[in-house]
Amino acid sequence: MTGRPKATAYENLIFKEKVHGSLYTDPAIFQEEMDTIFHKGWVFVGHTSEVPNIGDFSRRFIGRQPIIITRDRDDNVNLLLNRCSHRGNLLCTRASGNASTFTCPYHGWSFGLDGGMRGMPMKVAMGDAFKPSEMGLAKVPRVGIHRGFIFASLAKDGMSFDDYLGDAKVLLDRAADLSPEGEITISAGWLKHRFKANWKMLPENNTDGYHVGSTHLSMLLATGVANSGAFNEEMGDPSVIRDWGGGHTELDFAPRYRESGRPFQWFGGTRPEKLPNYVAAMEAAYGKQETAKRFVDGPPHAIIFPNLFLAELNITYFYPVSPNEVIQYYTPLLLKGAPEMNKRAIRQTEGAMGPGSFLLPEDAAMAERNQLGLEAQYPEWLDLRRGLDREAVDAENGLLTSAVSDETTNRAFWRHYLTLMSEAKSAS
Ligand code: FES
Ligand SMILES: [Fe+2]
Repeated sequence: MTGRPKATAYENLIFKEKVHGSLYTDPAIFQEEMDTIFHKGWVFVGHTSEVPNIGDFSRRFIGRQPIIITRDRDDNVNLLLNRCSHRGNLLCTRASGNASTFTCPYHGWSFGLDGGMRGMPMKVAMGDAFKPSEMGLAKVPRVGIHRGFIFASLAKDGMSFDDYLGDAKVLLDRAADLSPEGEITISAGWLKHRFKANWKMLPENNTDGYHVGSTHLSMLLATGVANSGAFNEEMGDPSVIRDWGGGHTELDFAPRYRESGRPFQWFGGTRPEKLPNYVAAMEAAYGKQETAKRFVDGPPHAIIFPNLFLAELNITYFYPVSPNEVIQYYTPLLLKGAPEMNKRAIRQTEGAMGPGSFLLPEDAAMAERNQLGLEAQYPEWLDLRRGLDREAVDAENGLLTSAVSDETTNRAFWRHYLTLMSEAKSAS
């Protein structure tokens, strides 16, 4: 896409116990990542519940490329490149809304929700060869939807959507299965953090259990769990981290929750009596036993490579901007048919993720400090050896698993990254 030969020897920059600092700072590497990971591979773009009605649209990006998600008159979800087919103007600038057509402000060409060209001023001078039917918006060539989560690839060919998600689709299932109707809803609006850090620090950090006791100490103190041993296997936390393959990773708290068997520990420890309608709806849908299990285990805390973070009762995704800038969006994960839960989930998101809260501001501050530290050239390597000697394949599910504070998930991310970037290099 850039015309630049893929010269970076990634195998000299990525080892299982260390990665090179230039991976976070080199503009050429950033461009190769856009070409290979974001503009060819599968990425998360949104959820079907964001465009529930005919005419609904939502503006997004795939990597650096602007797109529009629309629901057309035939109830189909379309992913259209947000570029006027005349001379390339950005067609849609609203974040979301409802429309019957998109009209380009530059010369007035208009397009339908399915991307087809609908009209233009002064058509007569275009010549006989001009066919409006050939001048529609470009469509994103491949779209994959699982439980309403929309993923897309800008490449016409390549790994199938099924192979991309692999076994990690059960993580999306685990979120949707907390709804009595089996569907999540994204409707509370997205909040945005723009910060000065490389995009890879987000997926790396989001399933990193090691930083929690330090970076989020203020939250642990405020919530009274600072001395509980949470996030510290040496103090008895049996939570695990897990490599799902394909760069997808998980920090699984369920083993800790199962020790006491109490429901809703992932939701401020609320009691089932406080959510009677939700409990009844879940039990009616799935039976008492299965519901009790889901209420103990809770939602997933996992990364779907490269840009979706299933942050328990939040959804987070991001766009890379440059080697040292990223924009992250987050919203509460709402559950269809569970208004009691949703009211509380929105409050919880404000408290945990909002600008005046703990988790995301703290992680963003750490990411920016990381980026600033990496301006120093030495030592050249970032150390990733934690837990290397004790991680093991779990006989139950065949997945590489380790203690909550180990860097197994970071290594899983980089292993997949190296595979993708090396394949791209050998193909170029
Ligand atoms: S660039 Fe859109 S109508 Fe001309
Ligand atoms: Fe964090």
